Amino acid sequence: MKRVLMTGAAGGIGTMLTPLLRGLYPEVVLSDMRTPKELAAGDKFVAANLENLDEVEKICEGVDGILHFGGYSIEGTWDQIHSANIVGCYNLFEAARRKGVKRVIFASSNHAIGFYPRTTHIGTDVTPRPDSRYGVSKVFGEALGSLYSDKHGIGVLSIRIGNVGPIPLDHRRLSIWLHQEDLLQLCRIGLEHPELSYEVFYGASFNERTWWDNSNAYSYGYRPKHRAEDFREHAMAEQAKLPADKVGDFYQGGGFCSAEYTADKKDIWG
Ligand SMILES: NC(=O)c1ccc[n+]([C@@H]2O[C@H](COP(=O)([O-])OP(=O)(O)OC[C@H]3O[C@@H](n4cnc5c(N)ncnc54)[C@H](O)[C@@H]3O)[C@@H](O)[C@H]2O)c1
Repeated sequence: MKRVLMTGAAGGIGTMLTPLLRGLYPEVVLSDMRTPKELAAGDKFVAANLENLDEVEKICEGVDGILHFGGYSIEGTWDQIHSANIVGCYNLFEAARRKGVKRVIFASSNHAIGFYPRTTHIGTDVTPRPDSRYGVSKVFGEALGSLYSDKHGIGVLSIRIGNVGPIPLDHRRLSIWLHQEDLLQLCRIGLEHPELSYEVFYGASFNERTWWDNSNAYSYGYRPKHRAEDFREHAMAEQAKLPADKVGDFYQGGGFCSAEYTADKKDIWG
């Protein structure tokens, strides 16, 4: 990997990963439609809107691997999700193909499988159960990754990210938390592992309350360094401040499941 492109560089994850990427690869190109606030001397930033294929092709020029974090990162209207995550994601993979990019790491989400109950333990091969239009767009992105891998030979890793940050913020996040250094480790496997064709990993640190079987990531050498239970007291204290959410507390996707919820399944979630 000589030149690595990171989309979504001005966002939360992009801002956390930028300093960790410095010096790791000979050239890192940061991109977003907004300029990141914390650029350092030596950082290379090129603005591009994912909705514009020409602009996306330009940022993919000469690139070996892409960390694709750009997009609409919460539930939104269909227009918002459609332009950033459906059209934008298609443009990213298509530009990568046209420009001969070898690897793409796609930031998928736990919301692609959010309607699995918390009582289930699932692997990466389960049927998607998205909990939102946002979650549907992540299933779409995973499908694109699979297609561009099988049909065009791009090595693609979809990471179903839980929640990224320095500490898990509440009870749910004790199960799905991902420290940014562990995310970097997963990204590096996606960019550098010699045998990657198409894989799905869960983006989770060492979480003893996990709902996910992440053995696929472990088989590629992933060894998370951060442990959610080290922050249990803080997370539970924060949880105590939150209102109960019958639907959200039952399913893995939390509040994304209860938002706009109209199904009558009280027999299931009480
Ligand atoms: N933060 C998490 O814990 C988490 C969890 C699961 C998945 N993800 C995924 O990881 C990625 C990054 O998440 P984040 O929390 O940093 O999100 P964020 O919203 O903070 O950052 C996303 C960035 O994408 C950029 N963007 C949006 N639309 C664009 C477009 N049309 N063209 C160019 N840039 C565009 C935004 O300007 C923003 O800087 C997202 O795809 C998100 O869905 C994040």
